[in-house]
Amino acid sequence: MDLRQLNAFIAIADLRSFSAAATKTGLSQPSLSRLLKQLETDMGVVLIDRYHRPLHLTEAGSFFYDKISTILTEIDTVTSMTQRLSAPSSVLNIGFVPSVLYGLLPEIIATLKQSSPDIDVNLKDISSYQQMDALKSGEIDIGFGRFSHQDPWIQQILLRHERYVVALPKSHPLANVRKQRLIDLANNRLILYHQTHLPVSSTVTTEAMTQVSDKLSTNRINRAATHEAAPSEPITEPLLHLFAQYGISPFMTTTVSDLQVALGLVAAGEGITLVPASLQTVRTEQISYQRLVHENVTSPIYLHTLKDFVHPKIPDLLTAIYHVYEQRGITYRQQNFVSQA
Ligand code: BEZ
Repeated sequence: MDLRQLNAFIAIADLRSFSAAATKTGLSQPSLSRLLKQLETDMGVVLIDRYHRPLHLTEAGSFFYDKISTILTEIDTVTSMTQRLSAPSSVLNIGFVPSVLYGLLPEIIATLKQSSPDIDVNLKDISSYQQMDALKSGEIDIGFGRFSHQDPWIQQILLRHERYVVALPKSHPLANVRKQRLIDLANNRLILYHQTHLPVSSTVTTEAMTQVSDKLSTNRINRAATHEAAPSEPITEPLLHLFAQYGISPFMTTTVSDLQVALGLVAAGEGITLVPASLQTVRTEQISYQRLVHENVTSPIYLHTLKDFVHPKIPDLLTAIYHVYEQRGITYRQQNFVSQA
C-alpha cells in the first residue's frame, strides 16, 4: 500500500467517477484504475463497487474512506508544519471573523507593528470553523474567532468575554432606553446572522427552556412560542441561546448571511439584533445601540493556533493584545501557549 494508491482511492471516492478523478489528479483513467486495483488486491478487500453509476463505496470502502482521509489530512498537516518549522515565514498570516475587525484588531496590529517594526502582517477574513483547516494547511498562523473548537492539533486561548449590546432602529420606541432587558425585546423581530452554531453540548433544550419560563411568573414570556418548539430540541443558534438562558423565545426571527446585513436590516427598521459591543461604531445614524442589564450576555473572543508549531511572532502578538486590554481597562485573564517553536 502506498500514498499514490491511497490518494487515487480518495479522489475516486470523493468524485464517484473515474473520469472526474482523472481530471482532478492529472492521472489517466487506466492509471487510476490500476492504482485502485493494486490497493484492493494488497488489502484483499473490494472498496468500490464499479457496477453502479455514479460509483458506490462498499461498506468496507466507506469505513476505509473515513479513516484514511483523516490520516491523509494529518500527513498533509505534519508535512506543512515541518516545512514551516524548518523555515518560518517572516509574514504572520492572521485569520479573523468580521466582528473582531470592527473591534480591537486594528489597534492590536498597530501596537504589534510599533514593537516589531520589521513584521509583515497578512489579514484574512475567514469563518471560525474554517480557521481550523486553514491553521493546519498553513494558510494562516493564528485565528481569532468567537467559537470554541476542540481539535487535537489546535490550542485555544480564551482572550475575553465581550458584552452584547442591542441594536435597534432609531425610530423604535425603546431606542432611547438605556440598560435594556431581553424580556422587553422578545416581541420584536430578531435578526439572526451567525453562520456557525453552538456545539450541542453547550446548548439549552427547549424543554429546559420551558421549565425556566414556567418559574418566571412575573415576566412577559410569549408562552405560545415557548411551547411551539419541539420538546428537547437543542437551541444552537447563538442569539436564541442567549434568550433561552432567560427562558425567552423570540417568536419572530429572520436569518441573514452576516452581521453587516443584519445591521442593514435594523437600519431599515426590519427588526432588532444583538451584536458585540465593539460593533457600536457601525451605521450610527440609523441605529441606536443600548447596553443590556444582563452581565452574562457576552460573546467570547478566542485565539487559535497550532499546538506543535507557534509562529515566532505570535508571543509578541499576544503581548500586544494584553497591552491594548490594559490601556483600555478591559478585564482579561492572562494565558500562555502550551509550547513554542
Ligand atoms: C478583542 O476585541 O479583544 C480582540 C479582537 C481581535 C483580536 C484579538 C482580540
